[in-house]
Amino acid sequence: MRSFLFLSIVALSSAKPSRRNEFLHFLADHDFMLQDPPQNTTDIIQPQQTPTPQTTFDDLFFTCPSKCVCQIRVVQCSDAGLKSVPAKIPKDTVMLDLQNNRITEIKETDLKNLRLLYALFLINNQITKIHPKAFQSMKHLKLLHLSWNLLPQIPTHLPKSLVELRIDDNKIKKIQKQAFKGMKFLHVLEMSGNPLDTTGMEPDAFDGLLRLIYVRISQANLTSVPKNLPSKLHELYLDHNKIVSLELEDFRRYKDLRRLDLSYNQIKEIENGSLSFLPKLRQLHLENNEVKHVPADIKELMHLQVLYLHNNNISKIDVDDFCPKESSNKMTFYSGISLFGNPVKHWEIQPASFRCVSGTFGVQFGK
Ligand SMILES: *[C@@H]1O[C@H](CO)[C@@H](O)[C@H](O)[C@H]1NC(C)=O
Ligand SMILES: *[C@@H]1O[C@H](CO)[C@@H](O)[C@H](O)[C@H]1NC(C)=O
Ligand SMILES: *[C@@H]1O[C@H](CO)[C@@H](O)[C@H](O)[C@H]1NC(C)=O
Ligand SMILES: *[C@@H]1O[C@H](CO)[C@@H](O)[C@H](O)[C@H]1NC(C)=O
Repeated sequence: MRSFLFLSIVALSSAKPSRRNEFLHFLADHDFMLQDPPQNTTDIIQPQQTPTPQTTFDDLFFTCPSKCVCQIRVVQCSDAGLKSVPAKIPKDTVMLDLQNNRITEIKETDLKNLRLLYALFLINNQITKIHPKAFQSMKHLKLLHLSWNLLPQIPTHLPKSLVELRIDDNKIKKIQKQAFKGMKFLHVLEMSGNPLDTTGMEPDAFDGLLRLIYVRISQANLTSVPKNLPSKLHELYLDHNKIVSLELEDFRRYKDLRRLDLSYNQIKEIENGSLSFLPKLRQLHLENNEVKHVPADIKELMHLQVLYLHNNNISKIDVDDFCPKESSNKMTFYSGISLFGNPVKHWEIQPASFRCVSGTFGVQFGK
């Protein structure tokens, strides 16, 4: 297997977020997640811009809750065996870390005084219920991490100020109507690891998400590409699902996609034309499917740079499969195409098939 270069790329790009301490990593993550189109990230990492409340008599009694560590406006109560949100969290808290506890419910008044909160980490608890008014007083919350809980649906009345919502690895089967209503600042939505099925998403479920650019619904139960996600997406991750085919209409809406991950599905058929709606695509993951031919539209994707096709069922490659007839028409040459794990015999492929690939190690064959 001569896949040295690719292995590292694959390892990088498929690294699954594990149950690490999100709190310590969230800044680094932000750097990574939003590096592509970082239009408006500055407001995420400048909590000090939010107005400081006047100190009142009450504040004198809001000392640090027991089992928590409080530093200036940051309250950390992770791994503390908490069964509920502690009372008397200082009012001026901007970051609250409650991950790795045993909290089962967020009640109406649990977070009531935290009007200046901008990041809330509730990862890895046992939350089944969030009161519809729990976030009512929050006008600045930007990051909400609810991963690894037991939520049966997207909580209603999420703060409209959210920029990033992570609600992966819960028990969500359906996305209800208008689930994200009014959340026009949301950039990042991570919903992987839920038993979500394509038919469980109401047609208007994602309405209102005007700025959403990153969606991940990996490791769910999708049998086809969802057609009702917001149209401005730059990155869409649907790997490890049960998608069997790509149809003409699937991507018509997502003309701005730069990165598309469909790896680890059961894709056999790719309808001619279906990928031609993605003129800006730079990276396409189709590895570990059952694809029989290089998709017909690939040669029309003038910006495509990285194409993963390994571990499929491709037995033949034609000279014009990857490159336009005039390779000078291709805006950016490929930096990598992975083909190992296919029945194609690489010595039968004409070298000219790769005339629009740059570099010596741009194409990876082998078993
Ligand atoms: C960021 O958002 C503000 C409005 O909230 C807008 O005026 C500005 O142009 C945006 N910046 C970029 C780089 O998109
Ligand atoms: C996923 O879908 C299959 C049917 O395609 C169903 O039998 C299974 O229970 C679903 N899994 C989950 C976790 O919902
Ligand atoms: C795909 O469609 C294009 C344009 O409609 C056509 O030229 C091409 O021959 C088709 N390719 C296949 C493999 O059907
Ligand atoms: C691969 O394709 C061949 C026909 O080209 C087919 O007979 C075989 O069943 C396919 N294998 C898989 C794993 O889909």
